[in-house]
Amino acid sequence: MTHTLSIPTSLKWHEDHLLILNQQKLPNVVEYLKLTTITEYFDAIISLKVRGAPAIGITAAYGLAQAASQYETDNLAEFKDYFYRDKQYLSDSRPTAVNLVWALNRLEYALEQVRSTNEARTNLLHSAIQIHAEDEEVCRMIGEYGLGLLGDKRKVMTICNAGSIATSKYGTALAPFHLGRERGLGFQVFACETRPVLQGARLTAWELQQSGVDVTLITDSMAAHTIKEKGIEAVIVGADRISLNGDTANKIGTSMLAIVCNHYKIPFYVAAPSSTFDLNSRTGEDIPIEERSPEEITKISGSLIAPDDIPVYNPAFDVTPHELITGIITEKGVLFQNFEKSIQQILNVK
Ligand code: MRU
Repeated sequence: MTHTLSIPTSLKWHEDHLLILNQQKLPNVVEYLKLTTITEYFDAIISLKVRGAPAIGITAAYGLAQAASQYETDNLAEFKDYFYRDKQYLSDSRPTAVNLVWALNRLEYALEQVRSTNEARTNLLHSAIQIHAEDEEVCRMIGEYGLGLLGDKRKVMTICNAGSIATSKYGTALAPFHLGRERGLGFQVFACETRPVLQGARLTAWELQQSGVDVTLITDSMAAHTIKEKGIEAVIVGADRISLNGDTANKIGTSMLAIVCNHYKIPFYVAAPSSTFDLNSRTGEDIPIEERSPEEITKISGSLIAPDDIPVYNPAFDVTPHELITGIITEKGVLFQNFEKSIQQILNVK
């Protein structure tokens, strides 16, 4: 059987439900789950069945719009009370990726424009569909700018999964590789496995293989050695939240890569849509870092690999200081130091 190479996608809206690729089961099982109730949406996000900052935002937007479509009231004030309750519920599912709150705020803005509950139901769903569609174009633009920035560099390292399945399509950090393959550019990607949840091994390795990109898997502890021995020319990562000074929260292990890049004098790039910038975070100190369950570290596939009573520290993200970032690739262009000024410009902050 011949396998047709294609870029996998993880989110499909079908009139009255969302289908999500169950990222917990990849790469062994490729299954789509149907989400219809707000608790199913919440569970899918908190349990990492859907993950990656833009995909979380899109999913939450559909979840809130779908919940609102089921409110049994014609009273707009009562409708809004339900809406704010559910918005808060979904906002609390994961704390670090700001795209979640950004998407839910866009729905709130849509709700502020309406004069009836029927109009509200229609506008909320329309907004969620629009956020989903816009993200694909945003990621394509990030890919274009990323390709321009990488120039003739071909050996690139990444961590976690900032790919097509973490967005609506193409991804952020992985977008240049998907677009590059379509254009016959032979990237050689080195993917860090990304302990403890293994997004690099389970998701990035799978996604890039599916679309025909040359990808080699390494453990996180091999990054410095691999950069030196394999002649890695750049590192490119995604982001969950970027503060106004350019400090960037991304999957745990990212800041270690930036430090190594600094040592070996190779560029360290962050790729993210403008929805990942947080006007309320002045520096990385303001970014909440999610801590997850000890079992993610003490168990592999349900089996204990450490004493079961061992104290565990399991932060899911770290913050890379802006001084270590060579450039931030957005859909509006590439930002260089001084980030504060360029971030304000792309976000139109007066
Ligand atoms: O915990 P996860 O898997 O949601 O973490 C995801 C990341 O850190 C990604 O790099 C980031 O969200 C960017 S996705 C385009």
